[in-house]
Amino acid sequence: MERGPRDPLVETGVPTSDWEAAFEAVPRHLFLPEVMWPATEEGHITVSRADDPDGWWRWANADVPIVTQWDDGRHTGSAPGALATSSSSMPTAVLLMFDELSVFDGAKVLEIGTGTGWCAALLSARLGEANVVSVELDETVADTARKALNVAGRHPKIVTGDGLLGWPEGAPYDRVLVTVGVHEVPRAWIEQTRPGGVIVMPWGTRYSGQNAIVRLAVADDGTAGGRFSRATRFMHVRSQRLEWPEFDDYLPGEGWPADTRRSVTGLSAAQIVDESDYAASDFAISLLLPDCVRTFARSPQGLQTMWLFGLTDRSWATVYFDEDDSSQVYQGGPRSLWDEVETAHRWWVERGRPGHEEFGLTVTADGRQEVWLGEPSAPVPCVASAVR
Ligand SMILES: C[S@@+](CC[C@H](N)C(=O)[O-])C[C@H]1O[C@@H](n2cnc3c(N)ncnc32)[C@H](O)[C@@H]1O
Repeated sequence: MERGPRDPLVETGVPTSDWEAAFEAVPRHLFLPEVMWPATEEGHITVSRADDPDGWWRWANADVPIVTQWDDGRHTGSAPGALATSSSSMPTAVLLMFDELSVFDGAKVLEIGTGTGWCAALLSARLGEANVVSVELDETVADTARKALNVAGRHPKIVTGDGLLGWPEGAPYDRVLVTVGVHEVPRAWIEQTRPGGVIVMPWGTRYSGQNAIVRLAVADDGTAGGRFSRATRFMHVRSQRLEWPEFDDYLPGEGWPADTRRSVTGLSAAQIVDESDYAASDFAISLLLPDCVRTFARSPQGLQTMWLFGLTDRSWATVYFDEDDSSQVYQGGPRSLWDEVETAHRWWVERGRPGHEEFGLTVTADGRQEVWLGEPSAPVPCVASAVR
């Protein structure tokens, strides 16, 4: 039984713009496996088409990301695995990225991260399959996508390989759509895009695992730059995944290390991340502290504890949040990471609490990444040097 190929977009009321016909022509469910793991408020759940056909259709038509591979394919069984490594992106996220891409008839597009093949099929429906190339690192994922594309009657070029290298054979491209998160923009994408062309991708520092969609316009001089639009959360390219710090490397032995510095803070967890988990304050802090990671421990009452770990040295910090403006702070190592977060937060407040869309990114001709606020001539400072 076929049920409502456009339901995810219709239900959310997101305007479907000039992509409407493509979304109608290419139903998402053709690209979903028999067993899949949609994201819910409580985490990922297993949905099997054989065991629960109604549930499968409901989730296939829902506006949620659906994991289709765990642990680079080493996962077995039907329970969710440890790390989501391939997925069908959330339909509204796909549409918003397509809108950012601002394609025109006949535009030649390179997609990085084929995944299920659904985006490549949508691009093919909109632009013609001869204009679409998509690169997927994982051989099994790429093969599965090719099969689904065949069933859907679409035949874009699917390349198995490292998308960080682009696909020079098909260059130059008018548009590059990246459906997997990056910390560093590879020069190859810029070099393979026509001057005046556009690259859209989820980009973020290692601080939070979050990213924001950025739209880079490629200039004649080999630079690329543009603004962020909104927060998102995409899995990262395989080689830029975060190696999560080992707690014992930072705090060896029992109890607090001898150099632990204690203080209190009036800054609350809600001022940093708010309920959405996609707060502009958190994004701003991530830009000022690109060389550290943060994590939160939550309780049913909300955020309880925040941890920060330096990525370039063994600095660490933790905050036990309480209700009365006097949360306990413990910090150790050469840097005082919590002090840096406070400085970064103050910097953001003093600039009028700018949203994601006020920040931008430039990639220089020699590959350096410069984040800015308002305009390219106003770089966002790295906070570490200011507070040491
Ligand atoms: C979120 S999924 C893409 C979703 C896809 N656009 C769709 O419509 O289903 C991200 C994909 O990027 C792939 N990937 C990760 N690192 C990559 C790399 N270096 N080059 C190409 N693909 C990569 C993953 O294997 C995964 O399939």
